[in-house]
Amino acid sequence: PTGLRALADRADLRIGTAVDMAALADDDAYRAAVAREFNTVTAENVMKWEATEPQQGVHDWAAADRLVDFARANRQKVRGHTLVWHNQNPAWVTEEAFTPAQLRAVLRRHIIDEVTHFRGKIWHWDVVNEIFNDDGTWRDSIWLRNLGPGYVADAFRWAHQADPKVKLFLNDYNNEGVNAKSDAYYELVKQLKAQGVPVHGYGVQGHLAVQYGVPADTLTNLRRFEKLGLQTAFTEVDVRMPLPADPIKIQAQAQGFTALLQACLLADRCVSYTLWGFTDRYSWVPGVFDGEGSATPYDENLSPKPAYAALRDTLALA
Ligand code: G3I
Repeated sequence: PTGLRALADRADLRIGTAVDMAALADDDAYRAAVAREFNTVTAENVMKWEATEPQQGVHDWAAADRLVDFARANRQKVRGHTLVWHNQNPAWVTEEAFTPAQLRAVLRRHIIDEVTHFRGKIWHWDVVNEIFNDDGTWRDSIWLRNLGPGYVADAFRWAHQADPKVKLFLNDYNNEGVNAKSDAYYELVKQLKAQGVPVHGYGVQGHLAVQYGVPADTLTNLRRFEKLGLQTAFTEVDVRMPLPADPIKIQAQAQGFTALLQACLLADRCVSYTLWGFTDRYSWVPGVFDGEGSATPYDENLSPKPAYAALRDTLALA
């Protein structure tokens, strides 16, 4: 076997990508690569609340269902992303429209509706996304302001109630290594476990940049969460660079991708490694980071870059 998927199958690792549903519909080469290279998929946007419930009580599951159908046809698992976030909430979810008690009921309804809709079809749910700041304090959000930090335990309990078999994950960025943010997660997981809250996984997004490097204690960090009984996963890996690309940046990028893959393969319970898009043709990076890009293993023409070969060579050793 030579593609990422075949090598990952052999190594008993789940390798995934975020999927852009417009590209999946319109771009044959993109669609073929999603099926060929990956055994897991994540919806880049279409399972987010703004997409699934544009008006209160009016659901639109069509795009998300198309991804679930694609995954089933191609024997892929689905990572559900994401139930509770400060971003991409529906326009109708506001503090002006609802009291705190109503917001709690609205959030509960959303989680139960969405997890129930996909019951039995989702492998992991990212239950809460990006709940801490980099300094380890709670991130301000409509949920924190109105419900307090207890919304996290509630969200996990509601999700578990709606689908008792699905694995429930925390998910964040800049939490690869041991730092203030990952320390905050470590303390939170201990508390949640002590309270009997069903939390099963620690998701590390893995949005790296060549100019910042790879945290050297990533494996140490994964291991401490695994010792608490959690699975770990890399959920959104990409390695951006200041443009233009040059050979050193391209090499550093390949090393960034493989460093995280090695950490996953060296850890005891790292169950998946997902790219946040696999081709520069559709990457979110240039739209958000001025002057940066080239963040994925395939270029705009869907030709593999050195990062692709590096991932393949690492998987081949596993
Ligand atoms: O849906 C509208 C569409 O109606 C409109 O025509 C179009 C015009 O710009 O915008 C569309 O919304 C865009 C949305 O993606 C859906 O395509 C937003 O502008 C755009 O900002 C949004 O970006 C997404 C971003 O999350 C939003 O925060 C990216 O595609 C997506 O890759 C990114 O993913 C996040 C993860 O969920 C969490 N971790 C970080 C990661 C990268 O930011």
